[in-house]
Amino acid sequence: MKVKVRVPATTANLGPGFDVFGAALSLYNEFEVEYVPEAKKTHFTLKGFGKKSLPKGEKNLFWQSMQKVFKVLGEDKYNLKNLNIIINTGIPLSGGLGSSASAIVGGIVLANALCGNKLDKTQVADLAVKIEGHPDNVIPAIYGGICICSKDGNHGAVVQLPIPKLKIVLCVPAFELRTKRSRQILPKCVDFQDLVFNTSRVALLTAAFCCSDFSLLKMGMQDKAHQPYRGKMIPAMDEVLEAALSAGAYGACLSGSGPTLAAFCSAKYAVNVQKSMIKRWKRDSVRANAYVLNFDGKGAAVI
Ligand code: HSE
Repeated sequence: MKVKVRVPATTANLGPGFDVFGAALSLYNEFEVEYVPEAKKTHFTLKGFGKKSLPKGEKNLFWQSMQKVFKVLGEDKYNLKNLNIIINTGIPLSGGLGSSASAIVGGIVLANALCGNKLDKTQVADLAVKIEGHPDNVIPAIYGGICICSKDGNHGAVVQLPIPKLKIVLCVPAFELRTKRSRQILPKCVDFQDLVFNTSRVALLTAAFCCSDFSLLKMGMQDKAHQPYRGKMIPAMDEVLEAALSAGAYGACLSGSGPTLAAFCSAKYAVNVQKSMIKRWKRDSVRANAYVLNFDGKGAAVI
């Protein structure tokens, strides 16, 4: 028996929607598992961005997430020896594109498929949020599109917004920033005026997508909750975001916990935005790659 799952990259927060907003993008990791009952040796193959850096075996997040499903379902047939695992990482690992979320979602969806899809989508989502700790990467990776995710104890509410006809330019610098570090530097308390600022921006952000009024995205992607703190670890972050806006983007923000930056624009301006962001970062000696992507409307899928 062989199962293959494809999981999209995600961009979380969309500026002010810290731990709440997330969107699935047309860049993918693929996970393939073959059940070989008589096999006696581990076959764990890594391809793509994670080829040299991701752990093989017990420490691999994809495998650990599969195991969580086996545990929940009381399934003890599968182990690292009788599963031939191939992971192809098309999502860069440097940070801000939901690569860990993709491994978690890939592991849960694939193990669930091996076990006859006994978990429904809500149970898959609840388990993924429990493993990841916050919902804004795993939920869009499961559902696709632009999602508003609210946690309520062990469960969550998910609202999918209309998918706009916009391109997403992702500018990925050649340095890494771990989410753990990027969360540690955030303040314990939020200033009341900053709370009002962010609440108003989240309202504009929601309105921009619901009303297809993308002129609202410039203000709607502004943030005072996390970007100013994270910007201290990302050279010229504000200048690169400004360069994207000057080159024609409707809105621009830090992608998740960074260091990747995201800009949202019409197809007409995508290449211009891409070039401007790379050029501006180069002035501060930061090498970067940029991708022009679409929203993914489907989420994780068995293929
Ligand atoms: N909302 C999360 C953060 C996304 O900003 O820390 C990163 O996984």
